[in-house]
Amino acid sequence: MCGIVGFTGRQQAAPVLLDGLEKLEYRGYDSAGVAVSDIDKNGEPVVEIVKAKGRLKVLREMTDDGRSVPGTCGIGHTRWATHGEPSVVNSHPHYAKDKRIAVVHNGIIENYQQIRERLTKEGYSFLSATDTETVAHLLDKYYTGNPIEAISRMMFHVRGSYALGILFRDRPGEIYAVRKDSPLIVGRSDQGNFIASDVPAILKYTRDVCFIPNLEIVKLTDQEIHFYNVDQEEVEETFSEINWDTEAAEKGGFAHFMLKEIYEQPKAVRDTVSPRIKDGCVDLEELGMTGEELAKISRIQMVACGSAYHVCMTAKYMVEQTARVPVDVDLASEFRYRNAVMEKDTLVIVVSQSGETADSLAALREAKKRGFRVLGIVNVVGSSIAREADSVFYTWAGPEISVATTKAYSTQLAAVYLLAIGLGRARGVIGEEAEKEMTAELMRLPEKIERILEEKERIQWFANKFSHSKDIFFIGRGLDYASSLEGSLKLKEISYIHSEAYAAGELKHGTISLIEDGILVVGVATQKELFEKLISNMVEVKSRGAYVLGVTSYGNYSMEDVANYTIYVPKTLECFAASLVVVPLQLLAYYVALGKGLDVDKPRNLAKSVTVE
Ligand code: M6R
Repeated sequence: MCGIVGFTGRQQAAPVLLDGLEKLEYRGYDSAGVAVSDIDKNGEPVVEIVKAKGRLKVLREMTDDGRSVPGTCGIGHTRWATHGEPSVVNSHPHYAKDKRIAVVHNGIIENYQQIRERLTKEGYSFLSATDTETVAHLLDKYYTGNPIEAISRMMFHVRGSYALGILFRDRPGEIYAVRKDSPLIVGRSDQGNFIASDVPAILKYTRDVCFIPNLEIVKLTDQEIHFYNVDQEEVEETFSEINWDTEAAEKGGFAHFMLKEIYEQPKAVRDTVSPRIKDGCVDLEELGMTGEELAKISRIQMVACGSAYHVCMTAKYMVEQTARVPVDVDLASEFRYRNAVMEKDTLVIVVSQSGETADSLAALREAKKRGFRVLGIVNVVGSSIAREADSVFYTWAGPEISVATTKAYSTQLAAVYLLAIGLGRARGVIGEEAEKEMTAELMRLPEKIERILEEKERIQWFANKFSHSKDIFFIGRGLDYASSLEGSLKLKEISYIHSEAYAAGELKHGTISLIEDGILVVGVATQKELFEKLISNMVEVKSRGAYVLGVTSYGNYSMEDVANYTIYVPKTLECFAASLVVVPLQLLAYYVALGKGLDVDKPRNLAKSVTVE
């Protein structure tokens, strides 16, 4: 998704902007540009824009690494096309009339067509097909010398989501920023001040950041930062210290972020679990809910997108078994519009790595509007979902850069286990002994993940054989079905191989007709009660020509009677098996994509954080 960086300080801005944009490359983009304000040789203020289609290196070449665009104050952008094709003219920044204003934008202006028609009648002409250009012209229309007033008036006319970085030509050295439902931060340092759509962009320069609250406007000069509400009143905001390192957002010797993050899973799971276990018992104090309130929950409604949705599917099995609370799971994009029938004491849980996914945020707002308590399971501190949820349970995965999520997924699983155990105890479904047995095993998961990683060559070898497959199927039952969904998504998003996951019992109802000679079917089987059933399903596909890969726990050696190849993971409590089987599935996807020579960290058409609907 698009990236924004802005800098005003005591050094040339363009090199800083290019540097920051590079750190945001992982979000996906198709073009890039910078706007820098300066004083020309006649003493007049100017804003110069340079843009290029394609990779940032094109923009670097055009600007001699930023040196040919003079000025100490500027904004930059990487664009991921939504309105209008990827092209120079559609890329950001966009000028308003007479180059008075330059704008970069993340998000979508929903009523841009109406605004465009109105402004056209008023004499504005549009160069691009973007929604962003309407904002530039609207600002021009309302600008009479007071930027905060112009921005605030613009905000009353646009619908949708936006994070904006704005330069006014007659305000050299000043950057203005505003956000609604799209993330934007400001950072301060001795060398100057910054805006950015994500922390890694400015981490090299500062750790002192403020996550701009929704609907607030910010004015930055090289020395000062001021915040305003939509009524143009100045407000105070607090800054916080980012406590992770730039290295955490860099590859550190790994070929790809995805592989690095797969290897970071033991640490991430440990960091998420251990602070929440005290004397062998789960401590949910941070939720701000009493034991009584937890016990009173009559139903749980979980909502999320993509992999986070698969975590919810796992949670359904786990929470229902451990706490005997009914759990409904919805895709956030469905939940937000379906006016679900919900009981009074329902707890809504929104799961999101980024905390900015548009549909998940909208689902959260819908639930809150209807008076339900919302708990966010979120990775990015200070993100929109974290701020708007009634309680937050952070996953401590650290920054996740790869578009294909791995370590955030694993920490989300760990978070739902903790919640399930805490709830089970609060509701008297499990006793202290069972709780202690479960938490002890939870603490052992990181070391078991490490053991799987030590055997990665077996998976790599296998993946190479199947990197040219046309279709790959995943089957499982119960918890293993949820893991199959994740294995299949991981594979298709980075390898572009068509893949589907099925609850194995469903095969006979249609899908089995797709099985042909040599097709790879991955059977996940970790649940004792369902093991034989899954084996039967594997026999069914094998007898129709499928090549069968079995993924199971050590001890289940009868898997080898049917599977052509078997991958074992360490034994654990069955309710935690998803945390282990997902690791070989991630490695399988990674090595299949690598075998095809694909850019694993930048899968086509995908973005790390989907902040538009
Ligand atoms: O940031 P979120 O967890 O809300 O993101 C949800 C999905 O967009 C995300 O999990 C996506 O499916 C990943 N690319 C999967 O690897």
